[in-house]
Order: sequence, then C-alpha cells, then structure tokens
Amino acid sequence: MSVNFSAVFSSEQLMRRLETNVHIGKSVFCYESVGSTNDVAHRFAKDGARSGTIIIAEFQTAGRGRNAKKWIAQKGENIVASVILRPTVPLEHLTYLPLLAALSVAQAIEEIVGERTEIKWPNDVLIRRKKVAGVLVETSAQSGTVDYVVVGIGINVNQAEFPDDLAERATSLFLETGIVYDKTMLFVSLMQFLDANYARLTSGDTESILNMWRARCEMLGKHITFYQGDVKREGIAIDIDERGFLKVRIDHKEEVLSQAEIQTIRY
Ligand code: BTN
Repeated sequence: MSVNFSAVFSSEQLMRRLETNVHIGKSVFCYESVGSTNDVAHRFAKDGARSGTIIIAEFQTAGRGRNAKKWIAQKGENIVASVILRPTVPLEHLTYLPLLAALSVAQAIEEIVGERTEIKWPNDVLIRRKKVAGVLVETSAQSGTVDYVVVGIGINVNQAEFPDDLAERATSLFLETGIVYDKTMLFVSLMQFLDANYARLTSGDTESILNMWRARCEMLGKHITFYQGDVKREGIAIDIDERGFLKVRIDHKEEVLSQAEIQTIRY
C-alpha cells in the first residue's frame, strides 16, 4: 500500500487542537492518498497503534461503505478518516459504536454548520432527507475478545456535484448551505464529540448516548421498508433497544433487527 503525507490536514495541528481530548487524537497520521483509511487503520492497529489513533486522508482510491458498497469522495473536498479504538467495555456495548460515531457526526455538523441533522438507523447522517455522512465500524476479535475496532467516517463537506445515480440521495454541506467549510475545524469538532461520547460509553452511561441518538432519529414511529439480505420487508420502526438494535412492528408482532438496510421511510 503506498501512502503520501498530505499538505492539507496537518498531524501537528490536529494533535494540538485535540490536546484537551481525553482519549482520541494523541497520534494523528495524515495522508494525501490511501486505498482506504480503514485499511491503513487495520494495519496500524495490528502493528500495535495506541487506542485513539487517527488516520485521515485527502483521497481514497478504494473507499468502502457498508454492505460491500464503494464510498467515493472527491479528492480534497471531503472528510475521510478512521479512528482506532481498543475498548475495554463489555462486548455487548460494542454495538453502540456505530450509533455513537453517527451521533458525533450529527453533533459536529450541528455545531459548525448550524443545520438540523437526522440519523437514519443505524448510522447514516442526513440533512433534509439526503445522506451527508456515513460510518463503517469494523471489529477485530479473537476468541470472543475484542482486539481493536476501526471506526471509519466519511462526511461530504465541500463536494459540489454527485454522479447522477447518487444525486437524489446524497448531498454535501456545501450543497445544503452554499458555504465552503474549513474541513479541519469540522474534523476537530467531530473528534471532540467522539471523545466525549466515547468517555460516556466507557463510563457506562449508554442511556444518554441512546437518548441523544433517539432525539435525532426521525424514522421512529414511521412506516419503513428494509432489506434483510435479499428479502424486502416492511413495518413500523418503534425504537432502538438497549443494544442499539432496531425494534420494528411487523404484522402486529415486534421484531428486533441487529442488521438491515433501510430502503424507504414514510415521513
Ligand atoms: C456507509 O455509509 O456506507 C459507510 C461509509 C464509510 C466511509 C468511510 S470514509 C473513511 C473510511 N474508510 C473507508 O474506506 N470507509 C470509511
């Protein structure tokens, strides 16, 4: 894997601005171009990188999304980054990490951009119903013990256009507001919220994470269609449970989804 150091995001600057964080951002690696920041993070984690290490790039040549989709972001316009975590929380609390990351993205956008955001379960962040950010959490575990987790985050910041097949569903902060944003400022805010939310998780305060997440999840109470594998189903999204799984009422029975791809929401 070949990687080049970036002149745009600066490791020193980011580490200085994240100095007050408890956990995240004590080591920061900035690149101009990588395959996927998640792949770099996996490699660093296997080599022993400390928890809280950040990998951020200007461009990815093989960015990954959830469900084996590609994540394509125009060079230099967006945030593509991964954080290595070595959580010592109970295994069952790891299911919070995708929600926690999406919540942190939503909070950072609200703080810097001042736009209302919506979270679509489990971890898409939307503005005016269009996706502006996504999260890909990958866990490395051996015999039931978590070695490390990579939290990959992509935010469409200043990208001005999207391919036709995406334009109806995807947007950027620039397209929503007409303002070009300082990516470093937004990223620092994101890492500050992530640090604070991660501290809540490690101290066992999962209830406040869930409540802040629920407050932004407009699909609760709404009719949804969703895919489980190739099977399309529908029901009413009721709530998320104490693990962050989605409770859905289907034909008068309640089911709990640990994984699914939400297709439509009837607002
Ligand atoms: C999704 O919504 O499908 C998740 C998208 C996650 C994209 C980010 S960009 C940084 C990190 N590196 C990757 O290859 N993917 C994640």
